[in-house]
Amino acid sequence: MKSIRKAVFPVAGMGTRFLPATKASPKEMLPIVDKPLIQYAADEAIAAGIDTLIFIIGRNKRAIADHFDKAYELEVELEAKQKTKLLKLARDVVPDHVSCIFIRQAEALGLGHAVLCAAPAVGDEPFAVILADDLVKSDGPNVMEQMIAVYNEYHASVIGTETIDKSESSKYGMVAGPEVAPGIAQVDKIVEKPAPEDAPSDQGVVGRYILTPGIFEKLRTTGRGAGGEIQLTDAIAALREDEKVYAYSFKGRRYDCGSKLGYLEATVEYALCHDELKDDFCNYLKHLKCVTK
Ligand code: UTP
Repeated sequence: MKSIRKAVFPVAGMGTRFLPATKASPKEMLPIVDKPLIQYAADEAIAAGIDTLIFIIGRNKRAIADHFDKAYELEVELEAKQKTKLLKLARDVVPDHVSCIFIRQAEALGLGHAVLCAAPAVGDEPFAVILADDLVKSDGPNVMEQMIAVYNEYHASVIGTETIDKSESSKYGMVAGPEVAPGIAQVDKIVEKPAPEDAPSDQGVVGRYILTPGIFEKLRTTGRGAGGEIQLTDAIAALREDEKVYAYSFKGRRYDCGSKLGYLEATVEYALCHDELKDDFCNYLKHLKCVTK
């Protein structure tokens, strides 16, 4: 069985919900406290044993590539000033054994199309997809570690899901199927952004996938779906006809950092756990509560 070594990070979306912040920089570069979203996603993949990071970049291509590249002038400057702690932060963005590949998605034709752009770099092996704007905090193993454990047991595609309020179903891919183990279902239905009355269950797809390479063939023949975009969900529905696909309700708290509210919630909660900041920030919030009463 092939292990999961590669992760695809689609970061070529328009990020319209964050305009004008996303006019010149992708939303995945928005920081939560002091780290951009894409760095949290890369750290999660690397901790799960992934050694090849494939970024699908769009019109604001420079920012992501620069973030994972060596910042030569900055490093020389910090070295000269003997700021070793800061130098380490700038340098340790990815460990030496990890490689980064950048692929251009010339037009934002949808998440499915972005994943298809990764085909030449992925080749004939199963791979992970991580949407950095879904930030997940977990106490135990991170969400990608959990997903890889499920893949290692079932040797099939695994989709990350969580229970959502059905009234929100038109924002998600929704899945249904019989449970085969606690938190794991074999998918027999998957639909993109259904109206609440058409949602097959209350399980919404969130930004973590492990996919077998068979998905690429399906993506090549998937036409434009919801919103006129090539939808990954539609290709997964086609893949399900040939292979088993599992939905995994992961353990952890997800923040939808593609929305302003989710982004602010993540910022506050990560700041309250931040070693340097937590005490001062907590005091600040308590004070704020007094003055806004
Ligand atoms: P979203 O549905 O969140 O869209 O994309 P978006 O364009 O990023 O943001 P809004 O809705 O306009 O504010 C889900 C993920 O798919 C990537 C995005 O970068 C995000 O990680 N994506 C989407 C692509 O890489 N290419 C696309 O053509 C579309």
